[in-house]
Amino acid sequence: MIVLKTGRELKIMREACRISAGALQTAGKAVEPGVTTAELDKLAEDYIRSQGGVPNFKNYEGYPATACISINNEVIHGIPTSKRVLKAGDIVSIDLGAKFEGYHGDNAATFACGDVSPEAKRLMDTTKESLYEGIAAAVAGGRIGDISHAVQSYVEARGYSVVRQFVGHGIGTSLHEAPEVPNFGTAGRGIRLMPGMTLAIEPMVNAGKSDVKILPDGWTVLTKDGSLSAHFEHTVVITADGPKIMTLL
Ligand code: MF3
Ligand code: CO
Repeated sequence: MIVLKTGRELKIMREACRISAGALQTAGKAVEPGVTTAELDKLAEDYIRSQGGVPNFKNYEGYPATACISINNEVIHGIPTSKRVLKAGDIVSIDLGAKFEGYHGDNAATFACGDVSPEAKRLMDTTKESLYEGIAAAVAGGRIGDISHAVQSYVEARGYSVVRQFVGHGIGTSLHEAPEVPNFGTAGRGIRLMPGMTLAIEPMVNAGKSDVKILPDGWTVLTKDGSLSAHFEHTVVITADGPKIMTLL
């Protein structure tokens, strides 16, 4: 079931999203050579709690941390650990969210650790731009496939591939709600977009092929071909005046 949110609900959810955005910015600013992913996770958790929020990934289907931190060929769901030390040239995807007064926010971004290669930079830029293409297509009266097609066509025109095994999602009183928001598809297809729908749009883009595999830890998703991967995500609300990004400070 797709839940349309009222103005009152959106006000609370905007707060959850603001906290999510602040936590992502806090962790992202700390990305530098020598820092461990556990340290980034703690910064994010402390920030969320300082704002009266609760880390909403923690304990989600048994997930053990506040953030998912995925480096280079890791696509998503990397588990923070004090054993993983960032080095110059890494690209570091941080995905996290906060729950506040019963509503969820969710966002992600890929950060450069020190100087990264021009190829890595182009992948990150393209992934971020594809998110904004997808958001621009999230217009009342349109369809989910408009978002999917906008992301996919932007990414593939630049020689990259979108991950198909994981998708964006509705969000609200649950972290994951209907509908699914794939990063591939056909414009004009799928459910109709309506004001009050809140979506987490989250392109995962591989420099090589779209295939992924999962590590024996049961969480970490990697590119099958070892290529780099980037991930950007915003929580967005569809309004009569167009899409509004909620995960902003
Ligand atoms: N980051 C995922 C999303 O954006 C959810 C993470 S699953 C968790 O939808 F278990 F890590 F929380
Ligand atoms: Co999400």
